[in-house]
Amino acid sequence: MSGTSVEKHIKDQLSADGILSELREYAAVYSLKLYDSIESTNAKMKQKVSKLPEWYTIIAQRQTAGHGRLDRPFFSPSDSGIYLSVLIRPACMAEKAVMITAAAAVAACRAIEECSDARPEIKWVNDIYINGKKVCGILAEGEFSEHEESFSEIVLGAGFNVYQPESGFPEELTDIAGSITREKQPGLRNRLTASFLRHLYSFSHELSSPELLREYIGRSMLIGRDVNVILAQKQYPATVLGIDEDCRLIIRREDGTEESLSFGEVSVKPTVSI
Ligand code: BTN
Repeated sequence: MSGTSVEKHIKDQLSADGILSELREYAAVYSLKLYDSIESTNAKMKQKVSKLPEWYTIIAQRQTAGHGRLDRPFFSPSDSGIYLSVLIRPACMAEKAVMITAAAAVAACRAIEECSDARPEIKWVNDIYINGKKVCGILAEGEFSEHEESFSEIVLGAGFNVYQPESGFPEELTDIAGSITREKQPGLRNRLTASFLRHLYSFSHELSSPELLREYIGRSMLIGRDVNVILAQKQYPATVLGIDEDCRLIIRREDGTEESLSFGEVSVKPTVSI
């Protein structure tokens, strides 16, 4: 039997019981709901948000209308990825709640490292890359309460490309999307999901911690790089100088002026971004 035919028979099944057992002491924190197929885990959570407990987590084998930032579609085929949303009610002011996204990015990197040999990096603000290809996207959607200047709830969505999709990535993604590993391993998706959820929960209580910010910065792939900033329909070249304590990207434009970006998009290649 050839190596390829053996691999085809290896299955890595996502299961709520499998994830719960890997969650270990965090199993009591999370309520998990696993779907075979769903439009979008974030959208599903948002429909039911007021009735659900904190740390309720929706996981899907496949999404038919997964979306990312700026309402872009997020490719979510079955059997190769993990698509999940966690309901978080942050007990802190809005500026710290923003750090949830940073916490999720660091949690994703730690989970990937624990479960594979890959060396993930963070592309500000919330994408995870391995060897120059995006393997995970994170989307936090929140209800902002102006009266209390805080987020009452945040739906934290994350999509992982664990394996290469069976029919490959669509043509427009082949240069930019990648997978965490190429080798199927039984139980990998359950372990990865649980590891991400464990780290996310721990970090959610340490959003102001200097260690979280230090790790986020240490894992950033943009610092010192020449990039193209895409902001409000404009694009301009700049050099990334660093990331400040509020997770803003500090850049220097070609004319020497410095800016701190709290949102926007940066591409390392001039015209492509996902
Ligand atoms: C991005 O790359 O811009 C963020 C992608 C976020 C995708 C995840 S998959 C689970 C959750 N449900 C969605 O529809 N989106 C997020």
